[in-house]
Amino acid sequence: MEPGIPFFPPDLFESDRKVMLDLIREIATAPEQKFILGEHTRRFEEVLRDSLGAADVVACGSGTAALGLVLRAMEIGPGDEVVVPAFGCAPLASAVLEVGAQPAFADIDRRTMVVDPDSVERLINHRTKAIMPAHMFSVMADMPRLAAVAERHGVRLLEDSAVAQGAVLDGTPAGMWGEAGVFSFVQVKSFGMPGEGGAVATRDAELGHRVRVLRNHGQDGQRFVHQAIGTNSRFDEIQAAFQLHRFAGFPERLERRAAIADHYTERFAPLADRGIVAPPPGRDGRCYYVYCLQVEGRDELRDHLAECGIASHVYYPQPLPRQAAFAPHAPADGCWPNAEHASERILALPIYPHLTDADVARIADAVCEFGDRRRNANHDQ
Ligand SMILES: Cc1ncc(COP(=O)(O)O)c(C=O)c1O
Repeated sequence: MEPGIPFFPPDLFESDRKVMLDLIREIATAPEQKFILGEHTRRFEEVLRDSLGAADVVACGSGTAALGLVLRAMEIGPGDEVVVPAFGCAPLASAVLEVGAQPAFADIDRRTMVVDPDSVERLINHRTKAIMPAHMFSVMADMPRLAAVAERHGVRLLEDSAVAQGAVLDGTPAGMWGEAGVFSFVQVKSFGMPGEGGAVATRDAELGHRVRVLRNHGQDGQRFVHQAIGTNSRFDEIQAAFQLHRFAGFPERLERRAAIADHYTERFAPLADRGIVAPPPGRDGRCYYVYCLQVEGRDELRDHLAECGIASHVYYPQPLPRQAAFAPHAPADGCWPNAEHASERILALPIYPHLTDADVARIADAVCEFGDRRRNANHDQ
């Protein structure tokens, strides 16, 4: 039996192991003993800011923390509503609830699985302060239409780009469509690192400044002088130095992810009439954190892949407003048919850059073999 292909690889940072060890020694033994928010973090923020064309980038504790910091910097709180996708990760709802506001859950587009701008618009009312779309694992949200909705209704636009760093739609990078966007650097993300971290990117220097103050206990430059009720969401110097080192290789790793996605999408195109639907082809507005299929009888494909030694993941088995944590904050008679549809069908395949060509072919072959079996079974009936 061939060795298995894990969903995320165990050796993500192996090629940079020596760099990391050297940085630990260097930063740990430096006379200034600066482990958070030092010169490395400042430079890391600057590099990200310049690469995005942002007014400011503020590195913080995680993608989840970044969402919370932006919501607080926007002074969103009790009595306010934020429209979020009904299908996505928990922080989309929990970050809103944590600032005391209410999430309003919009249904998604059946094909792309990102939030449906019409559904978002129908939920906007006098309490709505912001809309917070998220890019899904393979496709960016329809930001041009969402920006138009936000503008039409005078509400703020916050972009959850946690999984989409490096993706570009219509020439604008993920994270730069909204008033603010967030990134996550948790190890398996497109620009992941070995630990927790995130960032807020914004075109609005004022908003960036408020986030900067909030992430460090509400201090505005002067130590132990607190201008606002902030939190501890500071960034680690060793990780900042490591990310600065890895930034040069980011485009190449992204390109490898994109090439794998292109290959999968081409191989899977004929499977659509067998109930296996790949993300739309092309590169504009695509992200490559993981690669999500929609599959009728999804668990059968998952089992088949497991038998072939290939790990896959189900993101997410339930829409957010159906989760026990969030159902009390959703209308009891609410319905999100496309989010339900996606939860029943979604299956994510590995797409990390150091999958070999042989791994990629093996994964694609296994999916196609399942599709062929299904076609033959249909013919036999
Ligand atoms: C869409 C989305 N938003 C936010 C987050 C939160 O990021 P973090 O894990 O860094 O808190 C995630 C994490 O997976 C995510 O997928």
